[in-house]
Amino acid sequence: MIMFPIIRVTQPQDAPEPLGTKRKYWFKDDSGQEMLFKAEERGYGEDWSEKIACELAALLGIPHVHYEMARDVNSDQPGVVCAQIRQPGEALVHGNTLLQLIDPEYPKTKLRVPEHTVSAVYSVIRALKPPLPHWSANVPTGMTTGVEVFVGYLMLDAWVANQDRHHENWAALWTGEQLTLAPSYDHGACLARNVSDEEKKERLITKDAGYSVATFAGRAGSRLFNLATDTRPLSALEAFRQFSAPVAQAADAWKDRLRAIDQSVMEGVLDRVPPDRLSRVCRDFTLRLLLENQKRILDA
Ligand SMILES: Nc1ncnc2c1ncn2[C@@H]1O[C@H](COP(=O)(O)OP(=O)(O)OP(=O)(O)O)[C@@H](O)[C@H]1O
Ligand SMILES: [Mg+2]
Repeated sequence: MIMFPIIRVTQPQDAPEPLGTKRKYWFKDDSGQEMLFKAEERGYGEDWSEKIACELAALLGIPHVHYEMARDVNSDQPGVVCAQIRQPGEALVHGNTLLQLIDPEYPKTKLRVPEHTVSAVYSVIRALKPPLPHWSANVPTGMTTGVEVFVGYLMLDAWVANQDRHHENWAALWTGEQLTLAPSYDHGACLARNVSDEEKKERLITKDAGYSVATFAGRAGSRLFNLATDTRPLSALEAFRQFSAPVAQAADAWKDRLRAIDQSVMEGVLDRVPPDRLSRVCRDFTLRLLLENQKRILDA
């Protein structure tokens, strides 16, 4: 089994990235490519969760930012690295900016707001073209709109239990001529990465259905709301389901992709994470969670 590489980042920092909550900075790799290092400072395992989500997105054919696990040599911190999404002349326009364009009252400055509803997000994304061809090489054939692709992002979120697709964790890419959906990025808050190994072990072996991985899987939340007056966001599965309604064919095409991924393929991804970053119990729990979520999505 060939492990995923750990990229050693030795290059000097060009600039910190001000957006997002974690320490991150831009640097140039040896070929001159602009790269972002995202530190995993809290001991939550966001390096392995980000890497696994990226590999699973690739298996589905979802346009996504490619992440590698990394280590910042100066601070000796783990993290991930990824290449700059934008090419020269392009601009990233986050969801909150787009939402404010159609509703001047949209609360842009707070990250997690109930105004981030399925219907508001839908009305913005339906105006976007699909991701540019170099991002879209593996999407199911016949997808001609941003929403058809974005519903795949929400299926990925439900599969990996990504609980943090707030309005700065999706975006459009302005090419100078058109607004296209940006690739999916920032999936680190997924796969229950910050639940302790003790709890994971207990949930794997318990005979108490209320404490099982299946019950746990059903509790994954999204950052999307049904109504702006609601106090709780939709579950990750319900967000995918609601967003699927007007694009049922596209959702089915993404579900066909998910159906085709069997357990051994998931294990093949998990087993490539170096064991000093992903313990055995964590690997087993993650596999169980992926299988449960796959089943729940396909049964829904
Ligand atoms: N590959 C990239 N290319 C261009 N911009 C990027 C890239 N990755 C991240 N960014 C920018 O940096 C911001 C923060 O990055 P990211 O969302 O990955 O970090 P985070 O700290 O995990 O965020 P959060 O606070 O949502 O958890 C993004 O919203 C985006 O604007
Ligand atoms: Mg983010």
